[in-house]
Amino acid sequence: MTKVALVTGGTRGIGAPIALALKDKGYTVVVTYHSNEGAARKFQKDTGIPVYQWDISDFDACQNGMKEVFKNHGPIDILVNNGGITRDGVLHRQSTDHWNHVIGTNLTSCFNMTRSVIESMRERGFGRIINISSVNALKGQVGQANYCASKAGMIGFTKALALENAKKGITVNAIAPGYIDTDMVRAVSEPILEQIIKTIPLGRLGQAEEIARAVVFLADDHAGYITGETLNINGGLVCN
Ligand code: CAA
Repeated sequence: MTKVALVTGGTRGIGAPIALALKDKGYTVVVTYHSNEGAARKFQKDTGIPVYQWDISDFDACQNGMKEVFKNHGPIDILVNNGGITRDGVLHRQSTDHWNHVIGTNLTSCFNMTRSVIESMRERGFGRIINISSVNALKGQVGQANYCASKAGMIGFTKALALENAKKGITVNAIAPGYIDTDMVRAVSEPILEQIIKTIPLGRLGQAEEIARAVVFLADDHAGYITGETLNINGGLVCN
């Protein structure tokens, strides 16, 4: 049976190339999105990949949405927790709302989504969970205390979940992308982004496809001995 992969935030940014790369590899792929209807409709039309709309920071919305996904596609074998947002601003001017929104969308979503698939993965003795973190979880970034906390939280989440599920055929890994050429990164003001690019040893932004390839690698049956790992893909910006 074809394995089923779900990518959150899969209609744009890094998520769309991840979904496409998994589809090209022969998986059945479904994606979620939250607010950009136009992009979601275009993605579905262009790729034939089914899209589902809900707020991944909302536990009940995840459980209800996943019921529909299970009904239409069966249980999930590969979960890519990719959906995420930024609300940049220095902490001494940051609102509670921005803090909660970023933590909810980037980190609590990992609990919400993983909770809906983990029991079934354990029963079936197979699973791949891949959490898309960030280089800024590792190095910090001015104006991103909320984002860095959420993305660093994903790494701790990854390690704990890897231990809990190691004996059940489930691997749990994180990928920490650097500055990738997406709308999210392009939203940083031009002069600041230019400064950031100067600090990247490879001297350029990454391409989303360069992250997608790593997701396909970690999702593979043959990657079963890699778990609890964080894979840096950042042009040399931070090395282990
Ligand atoms: N070190 C220390 N302090 C700094 C600093 C630095 N490098 N740069 C600025 N500051 C301080 C300033 O002195 C200032 O302090 P005061 O309030 O005491 O005056 C304060 O930070 C605010 O500075 P600005 O006036 O420049 O503030 P701003 O509101 O115009 O801009 C910002 C703040 C929006 C966060 C801007 O600095 C910015 O966009 N930074 C880049 C953030 C970033 O990298 N985002 C990545 C988004 S993409 C992504 O996150 C994907 C991924 O995973 C990599």
